[in-house]
Order: sequence, then C-alpha cells, then structure tokens
Amino acid sequence: MGRLENKIALITGAAGGFGRAMALEFARQGAQIFAADRNEAGVGETADLVNNQGGAATPVRCDVSDTDDIAALLSEIEKTFGRLDVLVNNAGITQREDFRHITDAQWQELLDVNLTAAMRLSRDGLKLLKISGASSIVNISSIMERVHVRQLSAYSTTKAALAGLSRAMAVEYAAFKIRVNYLCPGYAETAMTERILRNSAVRQGLLDRTPLGRFCLPEEIAMAALFLASDEAAFITGEGLTIDGGMSISL
Ligand SMILES: NC(=O)c1ccc[n+]([C@@H]2O[C@H](COP(=O)([O-])OP(=O)(O)OC[C@H]3O[C@@H](n4cnc5c(N)ncnc54)[C@H](O)[C@@H]3O)[C@@H](O)[C@H]2O)c1
Repeated sequence: MGRLENKIALITGAAGGFGRAMALEFARQGAQIFAADRNEAGVGETADLVNNQGGAATPVRCDVSDTDDIAALLSEIEKTFGRLDVLVNNAGITQREDFRHITDAQWQELLDVNLTAAMRLSRDGLKLLKISGASSIVNISSIMERVHVRQLSAYSTTKAALAGLSRAMAVEYAAFKIRVNYLCPGYAETAMTERILRNSAVRQGLLDRTPLGRFCLPEEIAMAALFLASDEAAFITGEGLTIDGGMSISL
C-alpha cells in the first residue's frame, strides 16, 4: 500500500527539477498525477517516465500565470476525477537584478508565477480540494524567504509571501480539513540554478557554507513533500520544512 494510494495529485512546474521528482515519487506511492507546466515537451516526458514505471500521469500544458489556463486545468481535473487530494504549487522562476534596477514588469512576472498562481490554484481549486475531507496543499518556498543574497530581492519577496500565505491559508482551510504546508529548499542542481552553479567559485562558496557539504537532490525535496502531502502529516498544518543541509542556520 503506497503512502498516497488512490490520491489525485496536481503538481505544477512538473517538466523537470523538483516537480518531476515529485511526480515520479508520488506516483510510486500510488497517486494519480496531473503534471502541469508551460513546457509542454518537458511535462510530456515527465508523464512518460511516470507511466513507464507503472504509474499514471496526465500531462497538461499550463502557464500558471494565465487565468484561462488555470481554469482549463481545474476543469480537466474535475471532469476526469471530480476531486483533488494533493496540490503542489511548485512552478517558479527567478531573475537576478539589483533591487534599484528592477522594472515593474520583472517584479510583476515574479509575483504572478511564484505567488499569485499558488493563490489562484488554492482558491479556485477549493471546490475540488474539499471533497475528500483530507486534502493537502504543499507550497514550494525557499530558504530565500528568510535569508538573502544580492540581486534576489524580488524572488525572496515572493517566497516570503508564499510562506505567509501558506500559514494564513492553513488557518482558514482547516475548516475544510485541508492542510497547507510549505518547503524551504536550499540550493539544488536544477535548470533554475544551472547558470549560477556553473561558476566554480560561486559553487564552491555555496558548498563551503553548507554544513552537510553538498547540494540538495530533487528526490530529497520529493520525499519531504511526500511526507507533508501524506496522512502521516495529518496533524501538521501551517508548517515550513527547511531542507538545506544546515546552510541557513550556520555562520
Ligand atoms: N533549485 C533550487 O535550488 C531551489 C531552491 C529553493 C526553491 N526552489 C523552488 O523550487 C521550485 C522548482 O524549481 P526547480 O529548482 O525544480 O527549477 P526548474 O526550473 O527545474 O523547475 C521549474 C519549473 O516551473 C516551470 N514554470 C516556470 N514558469 C511557469 C509558468 N508560468 N507556468 C507553468 N510552469 C512554469 C518551468 O517550466 C519548470 O519546469 C521553484 O518554485 C523554485 O523557486 C528551487
């Protein structure tokens, strides 16, 4: 018996990185996956990988910053399963820019993808999420919600707001037996960090600042998300789990 047996799980940003790792692990644990991403080819590959390992995944092209795409995605889940048990708001982008040079357009794009999309899916998905009486939302924040580096102020703002939104939603959604938690990953090697980690000095500096001396694996994020999404965490809500090898607590 899998830890998510018979659950319906929607994972955004599932074309690669953490989202793909979560789709693979959740499916191994018995969940039926809706894998959503604006990268249609990538999310198709994720679904193939899940289906080839004996799981069940439906790929959906969806730009989470587009209200029509969100409505179409939720309507497809409603038509196919009539409910949703696990929602993982994982799709995210980053941009490096000095705070004093950030344009309104850059700021808005980060807010739309990293924050507003999670709000919309959690708000508009409520009808589907409350049906089972034991649903779970997992939002992917970051250690950058509370520790900061230069040129990531807009990104940090979205991740701090996502953590705050998770705690606020946890209080309101408890009435519907929906738990809301969030993860704060440290650095992992994915498409998002590829460029910055190619710089060997930056790379070594980050490793030196990580007590456990390595980067996070996407599979480790998947295991943490699995725990929060599963009934094992039935009394945990409004909580953030940091997965950073000790980076954010060490000087
Ligand atoms: N990699 C890290 O070190 C790290 C650390 C902390 C938090 N995170 C967070 O983890 C999440 C996953 O990131 P990742 O590292 O797997 O990076 P990634 O770039 O591999 O994955 C992000 C996915 O989101 C998708 N996406 C971006 N904008 C979208 C949109 N508008 N609509 C739909 N899909 C969209 C991308 O196509 C991509 O598949 C992000 O929210 C990121 O901020 C990453």
